[in-house]
Amino acid sequence: MVAARTRTDSAETVHTHGNFINGEWRPAGSGSTFENRSPANDDDLVGHFAASNLEDVNAAVTAAAEAADGWRRTSAVARAAILHKAANLLETRANEIGRELTREEGKTLKEGIGETTRAVQILRYFAGEAQQPSGEHYPSANPLTLLYTARDPLGVVAIITPWNFPIAIPAWKIAPALAFGNTVVFKPASYTPVCGVRLVEILTEAGLPPGVLNLVSGGASDVGDPLVRDERVVAISFTGSNQTGAELRKIAAERGAKLQLEMGGKNPAIVLADADLEQALGQVVNGAMMSTGQKCTATSRAIVDRSLADQFTTKLAERIAALNVGDPLEDGVQMGPLINEQAAERVVGEVTAAKDAGSDLLVGGGRLTDNGRGNGAFVAPTLFAGVDPSSRFGQEELFGPVLGVIPVDGLDEAVAVANQVRFGLSASIFTRDLGKALRFVQEIQAGIVHVNSETAGAEPHVPFGGMKGSSSYSREQGKSAREFFTQVKTVYVDPPPA
Ligand code: UN1
Repeated sequence: MVAARTRTDSAETVHTHGNFINGEWRPAGSGSTFENRSPANDDDLVGHFAASNLEDVNAAVTAAAEAADGWRRTSAVARAAILHKAANLLETRANEIGRELTREEGKTLKEGIGETTRAVQILRYFAGEAQQPSGEHYPSANPLTLLYTARDPLGVVAIITPWNFPIAIPAWKIAPALAFGNTVVFKPASYTPVCGVRLVEILTEAGLPPGVLNLVSGGASDVGDPLVRDERVVAISFTGSNQTGAELRKIAAERGAKLQLEMGGKNPAIVLADADLEQALGQVVNGAMMSTGQKCTATSRAIVDRSLADQFTTKLAERIAALNVGDPLEDGVQMGPLINEQAAERVVGEVTAAKDAGSDLLVGGGRLTDNGRGNGAFVAPTLFAGVDPSSRFGQEELFGPVLGVIPVDGLDEAVAVANQVRFGLSASIFTRDLGKALRFVQEIQAGIVHVNSETAGAEPHVPFGGMKGSSSYSREQGKSAREFFTQVKTVYVDPPPA
């Protein structure tokens, strides 16, 4: 446990941000607000945000429903122009917003700015994608019939996003939703609402009409729950925990809403005997520890050929112990805090349980409170060896800077172990053997597969999503985004009698 903290709030001006409904910023109907504090320093108050409830959700859905016809009838070219302008505006503010991201989320400044730049690319990609061909022309049984498919928007969609990618994930859901003619009610994660506010400000400045994009901030039960139960919301796109995903499945199935889920992972990196060790070490450490391990695509299992397991583990331990953990705004810091105090305590609790259950703790395992880290949610980067793949630690997602090494004999056992979890988001293999790499690609149960690169990372123009318990069989981004955010209309056009 860490010592109780005394708060000495910084004197900087602290803003109060409202909801964005029907083109205007307004406080929650109840007037309530909640605080957002930096996970690196509890004294750093980032802002106050509307603590909304059913009344605010209702107003936002009404605004989105009323704007739906106008937006649906706006040409894709005009919609694309707005996204394009938003990309340019965000690009000019990437350093400033990246800094805010780091302050509220805790990933390093390099990662904060990198993620903001990724959001720019996503907006730009979907500006282009909006203008791509979207239907097909078919031959008909009647030679005079013009037979084709078109894609219609769905209507009002709910977008519920996680705190770990507070600008990229909102962008990768909101941009295609808007590009393809839907109106949106967006609930940003309550630990990271600033980035959501900035994205909405920028899209509005770029010319989005009132009601097309609405933001309602607040908690899961006060905002998320009434939002997904509103009959006017025809589709829900969610990234977050498996537990919430399971509840959303029931709600959406009961009322027939379209649903897209992106959830957890327990992603393996397989290191075969012929791997380039330097490459594998660098990529595995990055995959496990960047963003403090808080990516659904993070590497949490290093499945290593027994012939090099000891050597590889020793080198991993050296690298992980040497990581510079601290204030993510500072130069040279490689890893920041977890998202908050509860997350830090939960991860330490899981680490202790893994140790008690018999995994060998080699590095880290506890809180870091010295060197200015006493006021933040810092946990030491942690490495376990000799992990039993069927133990809780070998099976469950920790969502923190914790890596476990599992020794195996050869490719077949490595793949069997890799597949022996309920998740299937991303997976890597490190090898120089093309035949083995291709066999891995064929056998691995994962939606995103890497050969000789880390398990995390996602380019905006290709599909993103998982297999098994990680996802809902739909994919985000790239051409796949159109599948979720539109519905097919099949059109038969016959000539009137001559
Ligand atoms: C990445 O690996 O860069 O919530 C993106 C997540 C994923 C996104 C990962 N949906 O972590």
